[in-house]
Amino acid sequence: MSRRAVVLGATGLVGGLLLNRLLQRDEWQQITVLGRRPPELTHPKIRFVQANFDQMEDYLAEFSVDDVFCCLGTTLRQAGSKEAFIRVDLDYCVAAAEQAKSGGATRFIMVSAVNANPRALAFYARTKGLAEQQIIDKKIPLTFFMQPSLLKGARNEFRFGEQFGLKAMGVLMPLVNWTKADWLPVEAQTVADAMVAAALSDAAAGVYRLRYAKLQKYAQQLR
Ligand SMILES: NC(=O)c1ccc[n+]([C@@H]2O[C@H](COP(=O)([O-])OP(=O)(O)OC[C@H]3O[C@@H](n4cnc5c(N)ncnc54)[C@H](OP(=O)(O)O)[C@@H]3O)[C@@H](O)[C@H]2O)c1
Repeated sequence: MSRRAVVLGATGLVGGLLLNRLLQRDEWQQITVLGRRPPELTHPKIRFVQANFDQMEDYLAEFSVDDVFCCLGTTLRQAGSKEAFIRVDLDYCVAAAEQAKSGGATRFIMVSAVNANPRALAFYARTKGLAEQQIIDKKIPLTFFMQPSLLKGARNEFRFGEQFGLKAMGVLMPLVNWTKADWLPVEAQTVADAMVAAALSDAAAGVYRLRYAKLQKYAQQLR
């Protein structure tokens, strides 16, 4: 099997781990990384294409691949406004799905969030939910949404909210047997592995959402 993939968000926490994992697999012969800056990893299988995601349609030719992995995302703090956050977490992801559909990709595999809900009152959850809804509308044969709660992993930048959430959960977890709860923190590596496993799965056409337990289950298939 010789597949080609596009990765968006390869300079991020999940995206970087995903890229590394894809490189270890013989199934993919070429991985095109689209982004505003190159990934840390260099490898003969990686093709970096510097991209301005405001003009995603300019990169249609790059999306003529088997699998599109989308690990894009920002924070309100980084983005600076709700509009700028929506541009990354919704508009860019939906634009990538549109190009994936036009380019003939058969799998679109994206990191969303556990609370994604287009009708949520909370801004973050609603944005993620609307992104999922609009991506489903593109009707790519196989669509997977990874729905982790907080991500665990080595990040260069300090994010107070994330660190506070992880510490709070660390205190709560031993008190109750919530080991199957969807909102338990997940290793970013587990999410990356689950994305690769989802791409390799023989799942029938449709839309799939993987939360805590299923993320672990899919990730284990790679080990
Ligand atoms: N952090 C959590 O606890 C958590 C929990 C649940 C779900 N999620 C979701 O999981 C996904 C991946 O998270 P992560 O922590 O791995 O992300 P991350 O480390 O922040 O990486 C985000 C990626 O998106 C790219 N990006 C951001 N803004 C961009 C822009 N304006 N133009 C082009 N590229 C841009 C970044 O590229 P640059 O390097 O160029 O900035 C980077 O490659 C996100 O959608 C996030 O919302 C996160």
